[in-house]
Amino acid sequence: MFQWLNQTKESAPEQTAPAHVAIIMDGNGRWAKKRGLPRIMGHREGMKSVREAVRTASDLGVSSLTLYAFSTENWSRPEEEVSFLMKLPGQFLETDLKDLAARNVKVEVAGEVERLPVFTRDAIAQAVEETRENTGLKLVFALNYGGRDELLKATRRIAERVKACELSPEEITEATIESELMTGSITHVDLVIRTSGEQRLSNFLLWQAAYAEFYFTDVLWPDFRREHFLKAIEDYNLRTRRFGGV
Ligand code: IPE
Ligand code: IPE
Ligand code: MG
Repeated sequence: MFQWLNQTKESAPEQTAPAHVAIIMDGNGRWAKKRGLPRIMGHREGMKSVREAVRTASDLGVSSLTLYAFSTENWSRPEEEVSFLMKLPGQFLETDLKDLAARNVKVEVAGEVERLPVFTRDAIAQAVEETRENTGLKLVFALNYGGRDELLKATRRIAERVKACELSPEEITEATIESELMTGSITHVDLVIRTSGEQRLSNFLLWQAAYAEFYFTDVLWPDFRREHFLKAIEDYNLRTRRFGGV
């Protein structure tokens, strides 16, 4: 399996890495529960999988990787768990920012960051700033992100522009909406991976995933390794994307 990664161009079967991959990193709580540990230990362990996924995407030449780290619905979790989750981006970036920068990774964030604690915002702002000029993998952390919230905010901003007579309703195109999305230049996603056996979108990238391929695996996020990522990409390469055509 995956020999194509080490093969020369001539002998490797046709494999192309999807340009935009998005991952719903699910199953941390169940991973911990299985071991009799508190849920937060699953979140901590999941950071290793984040590190490995980023390295794999970067090695494969994926252009953008969006990681669902905290949804607008996740505020409903116990306070202790929420506050632990809020500390993770800072912890991850503290240990990994150097490596990300060395790999030419450009860090971005999608979501309503204003509601995040100051230390989380500061850690992200620093990473975004330090990697601003990088031209390699674009790594987007979806933090306090919700697809409905994103479309709601986009609608409000477009309505404001219409009200200010900067735009007429007829001039609103798909590109207008896409220019207001929280994912910036990433207007579509090629492959959505979800771990832990759940098969739903959970309010992730509602617009961007309109024509995404979906890959579901029972592997829990803290167990998700490079080989699992490669398997998802192999599977993606077997799909025929038709985009409504024949
Ligand atoms: C995913 O794991 C992490 C976040 C949603 C932040 P979960 O915490 O949802 O783990 P399960 O689904 O309860 O196992
Ligand atoms: C989706 O997982 C959100 C993230 C991975 C950040 P959830 O565990 O919150 O989703 P549901 O509640 O099972 O749909
Ligand atoms: Mg979950």
